Amino acid sequence: MPREILVTSALPYANGRIHLGHVVEHVQSDIWVRAMRMAGNTVHYVCADDAHGTSIMLRAEKEGITPETLIGNVWKEHTADLRDFGVAYDHYSSTHTDANRKLTYRIWRALEQNGHVESKPVKQLFDPERQMFLPDRFIKGECPVCHSKDQYGDACEVCGSTYNPIDLINPYSVVSGAKPVEKQSLHFFVKLADFEGLLKTWLEERRAAGGLQAEVVNKLKEWFADGLRSWDVSRDAPYFGFEIPGQPGKYFYVWVDAPVGYLAAFKELCEGGSKSGLAAADFERFIRAGSDTEMVHFIGKDIIYFHTLFWPAMLHGAGLRMPTAVNVHGFLTVDGAKMSKSRGTFVNARTYLDHLDADYLRYYLASMLGPTLADIDLDLKAFEERVNSHLVGKWANIASRCAGFVHKLFDGKLAATLPETVHARYDAAAAKLEACAALYELRDYAAAIRLIIEVADEANAYVADHAPWVMARDESKRDELHIVLTLALNYFRLLTIWLAPIVPATAARAFAFMDDTPADFEAALRPLLGHAIKPFQTLVTRIEPKNVEAMIEASKESLAMNPTQGSPSPLPSPTNGRAGKNAAPESHTMNDTSVPSKPSSSSSETISIDDFAKLDLRVGKVLVCEAVDGSDKLLRFELDAGELGKRQIFSGIKAAYTDPGKLAGRNVVFIANLAPRKMRFGVSEGMILSAGSGGADLFLLDADDGALPGAPVK
Ligand code: MSP
Ligand code: ZN
Repeated sequence: MPREILVTSALPYANGRIHLGHVVEHVQSDIWVRAMRMAGNTVHYVCADDAHGTSIMLRAEKEGITPETLIGNVWKEHTADLRDFGVAYDHYSSTHTDANRKLTYRIWRALEQNGHVESKPVKQLFDPERQMFLPDRFIKGECPVCHSKDQYGDACEVCGSTYNPIDLINPYSVVSGAKPVEKQSLHFFVKLADFEGLLKTWLEERRAAGGLQAEVVNKLKEWFADGLRSWDVSRDAPYFGFEIPGQPGKYFYVWVDAPVGYLAAFKELCEGGSKSGLAAADFERFIRAGSDTEMVHFIGKDIIYFHTLFWPAMLHGAGLRMPTAVNVHGFLTVDGAKMSKSRGTFVNARTYLDHLDADYLRYYLASMLGPTLADIDLDLKAFEERVNSHLVGKWANIASRCAGFVHKLFDGKLAATLPETVHARYDAAAAKLEACAALYELRDYAAAIRLIIEVADEANAYVADHAPWVMARDESKRDELHIVLTLALNYFRLLTIWLAPIVPATAARAFAFMDDTPADFEAALRPLLGHAIKPFQTLVTRIEPKNVEAMIEASKESLAMNPTQGSPSPLPSPTNGRAGKNAAPESHTMNDTSVPSKPSSSSSETISIDDFAKLDLRVGKVLVCEAVDGSDKLLRFELDAGELGKRQIFSGIKAAYTDPGKLAGRNVVFIANLAPRKMRFGVSEGMILSAGSGGADLFLLDADDGALPGAPVK
């Protein structure tokens, strides 16, 4: 039975660029949409920019433009980036539209009428200068636990503690620098407790039906454990968003109208005319409770809460259908570590496209994607090797080795029939690959690729065994050769049909060469016979390492020394700390471009010798080095610092030195005149220097024999 499915990806914030992390998600959903369509289903595929919130308002202000202009510009960039990655939305909208405002109001009124809304006063930090309430991420101050300076209002990046912004010591507003004051204001809440029973049933039922991963349901159960508190859905002016009807100066929190944006985008698609095959009435058919259509969301693991509690509660509370599936993926890492601007591994979609073909990354990501929450690592070497070996070496190679003979000796035509044994060989391969349809549906693209490559290996072995280039020299073997070439090219076509959802542009070139337009997976069941093909043209070229290097180089924003005191990197890390419970409130402000940060030293900036002289760098001899109880990052050093006496320094290099005791007796280099810092585990009196990018990739500096403890380093 063909199904009708609405598919969405999470709406990217309109204040930052599309980066390769986003690409993971859009590619994952795009592959799914293409595969479900090729399996015969009707799929509507929409997305939009998430255009509201404090960050967008402040960024526009900083750039001296209106938020409308900002989101308009970003929309153009986002849609071009996604299109060029082959992500083919039927409609890509914005949450700042009339359709979305109306739908948000409709859902809100229904929630009110059904008694799910309450209001109560809330005390919050307020910027008296800028006259606005401050989201957690716009307040900084000293960590109440370890006393590190300049920590965000919700969590300390040095010691990992989470707290209330009100507990920060010496807090300041990131917007104006002013000291925030506490202020009370009336907020509106959705009473999630009303939906507890319903949500529990929904979660279990969806899990059983495959609409929710077990890992996700387990995570949610933890949240249920303390009971569901009411959800604060209002924000005070100034705010860029939709004003709450009848409540001047109060706005919907961005996370209210964002998921409604999925439906508003779909509504626009329905109302947009014949191209989609939908009509206005289809929208109501889709969203009414009990609809026999499906609604499938693709999201990252940091926004589970919003999609599996708030969103279904809102829908149900408004008398509408709930999601059929919420498919959650992990985060992208590059070469085993979080994407980093200093290392050039925080790569924007456009920077990638400037250097490499979209289908390469789509293929690599697909080969790594399964139906789990595990992070996906872009190992740059494996990326290059896998694409070159699979797409160039195994797939395109079949066609490139056979096509020439078909044109030279057979007038460009495939044989009209295949002997039974040869046909059976095709049928067996086609039957084997039919399993991919289910794997695509389960989002186990990695398994689908393994199967496809198995058949590609079989095809290559067939070609190698029959060596058409040898056969071609023997005129008496013409018929046999024709059969061999016909089967080989049909293997190629079969593989291409099953690869098409993953590498659509490359597959389109291959189909053009075969002069064929297979519309669905069913087309793979029968070989193409007696058919004229076009001259062969290169379908895919090898990845050159220099292109990967150039992409990384172009992504490097700044190079910074790597201090190892507690914090692994001094640079703001855009994807930092988003997973988990703490990500829920105002997590959108953690986007890279939104939070003003202290300027970091860039490789192109210079400093004067006087600046350098301010650092008192010294050689220290390690007396004691040990792991710190209760910290998974820190090692505690006791150094002999010569004339400066003994020093205790905490250094966040535990991942790099698993046997800290062995460091005793060696030299290190440290900054001696850094202000002492009180940490949870004691006072740290300086900073030990090490080279590397962080994590396990850190190497302490040494001094050659003869350097004495306390010797200045210049
Ligand atoms: N605007 C919200 C979503 C609203 S949906 C109603 C948002 N935007 S986002 O731009 O921060 O993230 C969009 C999607 O990209 C999320 O699903 C997020 O998990 C995903 N990713 C962002 N960085 C990512 C990686 N590094 N890796 C994989 N996915 C990541 O959240
Ligand atoms: Zn701290």
